[in-house]
Amino acid sequence: MNNGFFITFEGGEGSGKSTQSNLLYEYLLHTGHQVIMTREPGGSDGAEIIRDLLVNGESDRWEPLSELFLFSAARIDHIAKTINPALSEGKIVICDRYIDSTTAYQGIAGNIDKDIVSLIQNLTVKMLIPNITYICDLDPIVGLERALNRNITETRFELKGIKFHKKIRNAFVSIANSNKKRCVLVDANKDIKEISKFIFNHFESTYKN
Ligand code: TYD
Repeated sequence: MNNGFFITFEGGEGSGKSTQSNLLYEYLLHTGHQVIMTREPGGSDGAEIIRDLLVNGESDRWEPLSELFLFSAARIDHIAKTINPALSEGKIVICDRYIDSTTAYQGIAGNIDKDIVSLIQNLTVKMLIPNITYICDLDPIVGLERALNRNITETRFELKGIKFHKKIRNAFVSIANSNKKRCVLVDANKDIKEISKFIFNHFESTYKN
């Protein structure tokens, strides 16, 4: 039985989604909710081992299809060991990146056929679709500069070039537009506090209803 509530954050490099997901986590803790914070790739022992293969090394280290399988293998472990147990205890789970990253990075930007991506995603997550997904939208020129300034090690995706990251931004916008019930597009150019206030208000009105 799944009594919990599942929230994901998505967006391009440096879009502020990790900051915003952490702020929501703190807010929920302080307002008395049972909540866990996790991330992808990773979030369980096995998935963290696979993460290392994915985020380090040359930017063309893997074919998009290999990436699709590696991210999916990591996700299966993460769901089984971390997400599902927390949801069945009635907790709120916040996850930094999930299925929409696979659709954007491997599917749309990686040019893998839509039907193949859907098939693998359905097999991987079964019915575990987030209740809410916040998609942080930012000009990739601004985002990449922020990301490369703070992260000097795990840069495999950051190094893929501006054309790739423009595709990622467009991909996330189109995912948001085609999943309006679940996804909320967040203007990540705004002030951090203003964005978090918007997210807290949106969460409160959705969670209670
Ligand atoms: P991470 O290092 O956590 O960076 P960020 O802070 O931007 O989230 O993410 C690892 C990279 O993995 C990120 O560039 C996006 C990519 N990714 C995919 O390509 N497909 C996926 O399914 C996921 C979850 C992440």
